[in-house]
Amino acid sequence: QPLVGLVGWRGMVGSVLMDRMQAEGDFHLIEPLFFSTSNVGGKAPAMAKNETSLKDAHDIEALRRCDIVITAQGGDYTSAVFPKLRAAGWNGHWIDAASTLRMNDDAIIVLDPVNLPVIQNALAKGGRNWIGGNCTVSCMLMGVGALYKAGLVEWMTSMTYQAASGGGAQHMRELLTQFGSLHADVRALLDDPKSAILEIDRKVLARQQSLSAAETANFGVPLGGSLIPWIDKDLGDGTSKEEWKGGAETNKILGQGAGFGTAATPVDGFCVRIGAMRCHSQALTFKLKKDVPLADIEALIAADNAWVKVVPNNREATMRDLTPVAVTGTMNIPVGRLRKLAMGPEYLGAFTIGDQLLWGAAEPLRRMLRILLE
Ligand code: HSE
Repeated sequence: QPLVGLVGWRGMVGSVLMDRMQAEGDFHLIEPLFFSTSNVGGKAPAMAKNETSLKDAHDIEALRRCDIVITAQGGDYTSAVFPKLRAAGWNGHWIDAASTLRMNDDAIIVLDPVNLPVIQNALAKGGRNWIGGNCTVSCMLMGVGALYKAGLVEWMTSMTYQAASGGGAQHMRELLTQFGSLHADVRALLDDPKSAILEIDRKVLARQQSLSAAETANFGVPLGGSLIPWIDKDLGDGTSKEEWKGGAETNKILGQGAGFGTAATPVDGFCVRIGAMRCHSQALTFKLKKDVPLADIEALIAADNAWVKVVPNNREATMRDLTPVAVTGTMNIPVGRLRKLAMGPEYLGAFTIGDQLLWGAAEPLRRMLRILLE
């Protein structure tokens, strides 16, 4: 069985990845080699077979033994280890959740329900670097990739509602701590049905504005009861890096744009952090290349893959099925609010949601592993 090195399996994305690999029986097909940055020599988890001790994740010789390495350890680890490993002559497959290598010419962004032909083409040409996409982009393409595949999209704009988990585990904790802190300050007033709502509001605002540096260490500003319309670095041209990724990665996943000698589809919008836990939501506006009947669009989207679900565009279905709470922890990618917009029959609106840790991070990686094992 191929020797598969697992790095960062204890973190948030890594834990979701391990759960999914167990659920899908992936460990039956591999000899896992568990790596650690903090507990070298410790006992590997129960999925280990012959290799029962934790190896040093910075030990290039140990990594070189692997046929495949899967890492969810993060970008700093990738930057520190990947170049050394390749320089040491390692020719195995590197599957990575971090964004570090994503836009390199020799890296493919993996999302096989959307871009299996791109993956297969790269494999045939000796590709060895397989990188998971930005969570928002992957979830969006799982939902509406059919429109791109059908060549219908002239441009798309996305307005995102991104969950705390996109920042990391500490961000999720911080959000909840902030909510708790706000609630604690007005609890007595809430318990009194006769208290004045504007007094409660004033106290909440005072608390939000006086949250300590420790209480906002991860987001930088309050998120509980607020939002942050900027995610990732400031590119200095008015764009956030998260927004840039939307256009660059969507096109790269689809195998189009400059690197492929074809025209890119313009994809742009605003990325906003909100107080959801781990589902990213997006409101999408498409300019289609032609007027396609809404029923045809719904059928196209619904038939694209096993996980996308078209939610009827009515209040009841939307409130029941098209929320982060309804989607969290599932593989479902609901697409709803599908309707033609007032600007004209080529303008399509949609709203989609995906679990940021499943399709947004872990699932494309383990599916790439399965493709390599075929
Ligand atoms: N950049 C994403 C976010 C994380 O902050 O939500 C997933 O790629």
